[in-house]
Amino acid sequence: MDGMTFILFGATGDLAKRKIFPAIYNLFLDEKLPRAFAVFGTGRRDMSDEDFRAHVEQSVKTFSRRWEDDRDRAGQFLSMFHYCAMDVTQPQDYGKLAQRIRQHEQEGKIPENRIYSLSVAPELFGVIASNISASELGSATGWKRLIIEKPFGHDLQSARDLNRSLRQFFDEEEIFRIDHYLGKPMVQNLEVLEFANPILRTLWNNQHIANVQITASETVGVEERAGYYDKAGAIRDMFQNHLLQLLMMTAMQMPRQFSAREIRNEKIKVLKALRPLRQEDVAAHVVRGQYGKGWINGKPAAAYRDEPGVDRASNTDTFVAARLWIDNAFWSGVPFYIRTGKRMREKSTRIVIEFKNPLRDAYPVRHEKPAPNLLVIHVNPYEGVSFQLNSKHPGKHSRIEPITMEFAANANDVPEAYELLLYDALRGDSTFFAHWEEVELCWKWVQPILDAFSDQRVPLHMYEAGTQGPETAFRLLEEDGFSWWELN
Ligand code: BG6
Repeated sequence: MDGMTFILFGATGDLAKRKIFPAIYNLFLDEKLPRAFAVFGTGRRDMSDEDFRAHVEQSVKTFSRRWEDDRDRAGQFLSMFHYCAMDVTQPQDYGKLAQRIRQHEQEGKIPENRIYSLSVAPELFGVIASNISASELGSATGWKRLIIEKPFGHDLQSARDLNRSLRQFFDEEEIFRIDHYLGKPMVQNLEVLEFANPILRTLWNNQHIANVQITASETVGVEERAGYYDKAGAIRDMFQNHLLQLLMMTAMQMPRQFSAREIRNEKIKVLKALRPLRQEDVAAHVVRGQYGKGWINGKPAAAYRDEPGVDRASNTDTFVAARLWIDNAFWSGVPFYIRTGKRMREKSTRIVIEFKNPLRDAYPVRHEKPAPNLLVIHVNPYEGVSFQLNSKHPGKHSRIEPITMEFAANANDVPEAYELLLYDALRGDSTFFAHWEEVELCWKWVQPILDAFSDQRVPLHMYEAGTQGPETAFRLLEEDGFSWWELN
């Protein structure tokens, strides 16, 4: 890999501390960083390089999945970090930063390849991109890349505006939009499961699959993020991005080649085939919920409206469930159910594929009916795959019982999403980043839901904290003769 400089805006913030420094550290331990690699952190706060390195060390010790107690190695790692205080809205501050970077590049004979990672409020994305371009930074002779984090807009229009402003300064190929769900090892594994296993590939369509259920439930509430969350809700925070990405990864067909472009094309085909929702139909296919008070892991939990910073009359959704249809030859007739919520019974992200069983009724009356075969892809909190089959009970003559074949990845070996994603960004591989067309199509599909929610056309159902969401979300599946598969 060519030498490069990683410029981190928002280096004193939470994301840097919790995710970015630990990811860089783990890449360092695995010798996945280029030989010539430097990080320039920027923030408003005044800090020396030494102070910054102490901050990075503390963050890594606290949040990294591993830490090697070796002073020489730690010193080598920390020496890559530099700090430059600046106000990102002030164009002249970029000159200062550019000079320091250039000096470092010249001393180390490092090519002027630069990655700008924006770990700042999205309102600043456009300003920073424009100031980078207008400053000396913009005249570098190497390549440039921009890493940004969601939210990419608040709705279709604002997402388009944001994209337009970034595209004045960066080409689409240079923009790496992080959706950390695409960095989760089991999500990256989906294409292998689907396409490297002829058994599954053969079954991966509407002839054999009865329905698909995608769940991302959390036990945490709004935490300290009410300012952001109360305006976003589950629909923007989780559904429009992470969950639609899971849907695309599950439903896409085999690409002609396993290249970023071809995989993206297949994902986009899924979005284009999603049956659009009209605003007046939203209530029939989408359930909107908000948590009331209840119990989580034996402890009392406050209602959403009583959380600090939340409007007491807030109608923000903390739970969304939806039924989606993909109108193409592979999936037509197969409902995809998606649900996500805060303050639910368990932390679990999983995809359950329920298979059809045309011979179910062929069993003689004396037998119990077999349960459906289920393939469960466990994304979080543990990574693995399980397969539910039917087996004859050895003792009881007519008893058929479900048995489960399980594979669980060894938790210690599993890299964090940010490690995988940053490594890809360093290599310029955009396969697991959200392309603008995906982001735009996701907003487009979700927009009628946003409108229906804001016009109060969809009832807001309260659910008790610590449960699996409002009753209505169960009815959504019952209408089609199915039910959510709860795993414990
Ligand atoms: C983030 C959301 O994108 O994803 C959070 O903003 C949510 O609200 C988080 O808690 C969930 O991520 P994970 O990896 O814990 O499933």
